Amino acid sequence: MPSSSPRAKKQIEDGRIRTLLLWYRRHGRDLPWRRTRDPYAICVSEIMLQQTQVARVIPFYESWMKRFPSWESLANANTPELIRAWSGLGYNRRALYLREAAKTVCERGVPHTEEGWRALKGIGPYAAAAIHTFVAQEPAAAIDTNVRRVIGRLVLRKPFPTQQDDHAVRRALQAIFHRKQDWKALHAIMDLGAMVCQARKPNCLECPLREQCVSAKRFLTSSVVRPKTAIVQERIHEGKRFPDRIYRGRILRLLQTASSYSIRRIGNMIDDSYDDTQDREWILRMIDRMQRDGLIEMKRERIQLPIQK
Ligand code: ADE
Repeated sequence: MPSSSPRAKKQIEDGRIRTLLLWYRRHGRDLPWRRTRDPYAICVSEIMLQQTQVARVIPFYESWMKRFPSWESLANANTPELIRAWSGLGYNRRALYLREAAKTVCERGVPHTEEGWRALKGIGPYAAAAIHTFVAQEPAAAIDTNVRRVIGRLVLRKPFPTQQDDHAVRRALQAIFHRKQDWKALHAIMDLGAMVCQARKPNCLECPLREQCVSAKRFLTSSVVRPKTAIVQERIHEGKRFPDRIYRGRILRLLQTASSYSIRRIGNMIDDSYDDTQDREWILRMIDRMQRDGLIEMKRERIQLPIQK
């Protein structure tokens, strides 16, 4: 049989999955959202994990699930409650989007397809595919940075794949996940990316797929040249020490313990060097964005958490 026959290819993929699952059983991370099939819990975890690291998410996930254990409890939560539970995780809009998603699920039921998840507020292609994979236990091409890196290196000979490779990554993943039960290997691929096949310096000697990886030899002989990627810098306002995201987080945290603040007062509290003449426009722009996101309200020149839901 020629080695490129469909049967031979499936045998190769089956071998990969077996190796991945064996490795995962010994080395995989035991994470709270992996111990459930509750669609709500899995959806909460994937939204939290989108822009935040696993170790940081765990305590927030656990307290969120105690405070809002179901779609209904979240759909009925008011904005100050949500912000209190979320703030510290950052990118606070995610909490409000999650409540929108919960309202939709309460009205229409839990989605049964990847597209159904995708239709909910705040759920993009990656999260929809990941949620579907773990809830339906049916593989979908969930491509985050770890998955992209592992698959790009393993099969595409791309030591540093980028989003432009996602079409090829998706096809490669679909070939690997050719049976329904292969969904389990998604956790393994995620963990391999986080723990072994790391971005800067993969630990190929520890990798269970070393023999099958089309990039391992190049890494092991140090013949890979890391492309100079433009580091995407967050915008920092002139004269300020941190990106605006940090100051917006400070505003939200302060509003949790006071009913309202004047703009000048909150400016002084979030930034030691605040100058009300020079910085007023800067802070008003941040406040405007937070208002548009539904995170705060302005009443008679004072800002506060929204009173209404
Ligand atoms: N387990 C399930 N989803 C995950 C994710 N997005 N990142 C890390 N571990 C996960």
